[in-house]
Amino acid sequence: MGSVVSTQESNFAPHLEVEGSRPLSGYIQVSGAKNSALALMAASLLTEKTVEIKNIPSLTDIDVMRRILLELGIKIKREKNTLLIDPEKLRHIELPQRLVHRLRASFFCIGPLLARLGRAKVPLPGGCQIGLRPVDEHIQGLKALGAKVDLEKDMIIASLTGNKKRLTAAKIVLNCPSVGATETILMAAVLAEGTTKIYNSAKEPEIQDLANMLNSMGARIAGAGTSEITINGVQKLNGCVHSAIPDRIEAGTYLIAAAITRSPLLIGPVISSHLNALLRKLRDCGCDIKEEGNSIRIIPGEIKGVDIKTDPFPGFPTDLQAPFMALMTTAKGKSEINETIFENRMQHVGELQKMGASIKLKGSKALIKGVAELKGNDLTAGDLRASAAIILASLSAKGTSKIKGLHHLDRGYENFEEKLSKVGCNIYRRNELLIHKNISSCELATQNNLPIKQAAA
Ligand code: UD1
Repeated sequence: MGSVVSTQESNFAPHLEVEGSRPLSGYIQVSGAKNSALALMAASLLTEKTVEIKNIPSLTDIDVMRRILLELGIKIKREKNTLLIDPEKLRHIELPQRLVHRLRASFFCIGPLLARLGRAKVPLPGGCQIGLRPVDEHIQGLKALGAKVDLEKDMIIASLTGNKKRLTAAKIVLNCPSVGATETILMAAVLAEGTTKIYNSAKEPEIQDLANMLNSMGARIAGAGTSEITINGVQKLNGCVHSAIPDRIEAGTYLIAAAITRSPLLIGPVISSHLNALLRKLRDCGCDIKEEGNSIRIIPGEIKGVDIKTDPFPGFPTDLQAPFMALMTTAKGKSEINETIFENRMQHVGELQKMGASIKLKGSKALIKGVAELKGNDLTAGDLRASAAIILASLSAKGTSKIKGLHHLDRGYENFEEKLSKVGCNIYRRNELLIHKNISSCELATQNNLPIKQAAA
């Protein structure tokens, strides 16, 4: 299987050059959901039979998860966007620290390892630095299911107690509707003895997708997508063929790209009910939105400021807060953006201000006054969604922007610049060769427009 070259690991430090103020038109195809795909890959560990998962995007996060699963002893083949996972030879219980630090979602493996092998050793996870992101809810849930969970240095060690062969069902009330904790408990409970209930569970579409795949493997889960999930434990799971849902965050990013460039676009495939909170706000701020089959056509008018507050699904997604803020910096009038999910998710503000945006930060609230024009600048992405936000701002800005820190972008957006180029953006990836490890500055080595994969070969 070909693997995505990590921009962190290669000797190349690419940046994007974006020419702003260009109108866009056409269709952008949405990839499979990254956040679903990561949970689905972990869930495949729950069976000994082959699992085929379609619509898996080619992203560095997916590649890190693939490498973690390989190190656990299982076989994976990638054929285009389909993963063929043969988990029969799952033998190892310890996740490799160097990879776990790069992917918070690798923590999902703890439930399946515990359920299948009775023991798991998982380093504390990494991922986007957007807040404290504890895993206490995951751990409380596993303990409620009868696991012994200890923290030794930075390693979480979970095991079945006594002579037990299976976890035991429990009634679990989450303090906050954590997406990850709901998924961890769901995966641990499918093979537990008895009926588990999760109260105050997260309702995100990715949880429904995970439950749908598990049910097609023989699990008995009801209520996924609501705040109360019931899991009747089964002895064994079978293999299955499953297709990941479309990525609602990627789709939302492109809808905002249309709005910020005041350009009509058709975006698909999508499940529009997954995007309701965003679509409502886009309509409120002046966009005409129509569903066409499984796509959404957006025709922006004059954009005016609207307020948003991030909330768990079906509220406005925190993952679209940064892109929406970019849009609001170009709107007529004022808007207030309140981030309630993560405490450090305003890393895009400084970069947007460098472009001339008028934003005042007050704790987790941003007060924005739209400006007539943003200006291109040299910018650095601080996290995954911040990278999308500053690229969208660059699309609307006067002049050219140079954006660094693309390893964040490559974690979550498949073929980002190719997709935008097709609808009329002048957006190029330039690769800079790091000549010497100890030299912090980069020497420009290539000025071609090859994607990093080809340039590094
Ligand atoms: C997932 C998504 C991420 C999205 C987020 C919220 C994946 C791979 N990532 O992240 O893109 O932004 O949902 O929609 O699916 N919390 C605790 N204790 C816990 C777990 C979480 O206090 O044990 C808190 C977090 O600090 C945060 C909030 O709960 O403030 C939400 O986090 P959570 O829903 O768990 O997000 P993730 O699953 O990490």
